Amino acid sequence: MFSNKDRSQFADLETPFYYYDLNLLQETLNSCTEAAKVYDFHVHYAMKANFNTTLLKKIRLAGLGADCVSGNEVKKALEMGFDAGKVVFAGVGKSDKEINESLDQDIFCFNVESIQELEVINELAAKKNKIAKVAIRINPNVDAHTHHNITTGLDENKFGINSWDLPACADTLKQCAQLEFIGIHFHIGSQITNLDVYKNLCIRVNEFSQWFEERGFVVKVLNVGGGLGIDYHHPEQQIPDFTAYFKIFNDFLEKRDNQEVHFELGRALVGQCSSLISKVLYVKNGKTKNFIILDAGMTELMRPALYQAYHQIENITKQDAAASVKYDVVGPICESTDCFGKEVLLQETQRGDLIALRSTGAYGEVMSSHYNLREELRFVFSE
Ligand code: LLP
Repeated sequence: MFSNKDRSQFADLETPFYYYDLNLLQETLNSCTEAAKVYDFHVHYAMKANFNTTLLKKIRLAGLGADCVSGNEVKKALEMGFDAGKVVFAGVGKSDKEINESLDQDIFCFNVESIQELEVINELAAKKNKIAKVAIRINPNVDAHTHHNITTGLDENKFGINSWDLPACADTLKQCAQLEFIGIHFHIGSQITNLDVYKNLCIRVNEFSQWFEERGFVVKVLNVGGGLGIDYHHPEQQIPDFTAYFKIFNDFLEKRDNQEVHFELGRALVGQCSSLISKVLYVKNGKTKNFIILDAGMTELMRPALYQAYHQIENITKQDAAASVKYDVVGPICESTDCFGKEVLLQETQRGDLIALRSTGAYGEVMSSHYNLREELRFVFSE
């Protein structure tokens, strides 16, 4: 539910726009950092979830590091004042330019996803007479039990180094004089709501850590990635249970005294602090279907079209009335997949009503596009 103050503020604004609740973001960050502090865990914010400058400022002030997946994300993190010593760079396809720039910035670590990439980083670091810190991203073949499009830790996925390639990887690490091995990295998928999945991950992390130790490597960093999900069906339950999440890693990781545990959380930190606010352009009542046509489409929020992702849809203008009519809620883009929800039970809706698509803070704004030559996004921040 939105407050009357929010509703009257929204009524005067041009739509669609991303609404960000910065208080909620702050509360979420506080909850995460307090829960992590108990075990001395290190949290990096996965910038890919949302790199809006206003949000990044708050996230940096909360003391988090940055997890980046492109050279531009590394650049932006540093511009925003994130400490280079807390910046990690992952991704299966780092270009030479991106590697070179990150070497120049002395970032904390490259999370390396193939043996060939190790060789390239070694070669580029040698030209600069630098030592590059690397963690090996291992594909642990753990099922994240999430949507198959956002699963990353199975043998069939392109991410990380498979276990059968680890002996060759260890040999390469020993031969590469410009590389400093600092640890191992995992990320098995996103929107993980079954915490048991993380127990399975911990078991695999322990095995791989021991494997490297037995071969004479010092595994200083265990980076277990991100993936903690949010409750899209109950956007009012806004802060994920970070305490339960971190406790699993404390209970199941066989952490050595000299080891650090690192996380890369995106969605759990920013997902619930935003809604996409849109206006109803038209209502088409048909024989078999009623359609609500919004002024926001897949160009503003791509997740439903791309992954059939669920975002709760609310008629803010009529929020005090009872829901009584089923509508397909669609956008204006010339694509049939431009649909936010089918058979959604809503209050009887009219042209001009404001509709909120909830839980859009993660992978919303960042995945928007200009398809159909759509307008620039608009934002409203509330504090
Ligand atoms: N670390 C790595 C290496 C990643 O690839 C990702 C996300 C994260 C951390 C952060 O994951 P999170 O905590 O946000 O789940 N566009 C999709 C999600 C793609 C996630 C990609 N990787 C969606 O809209 O659901």
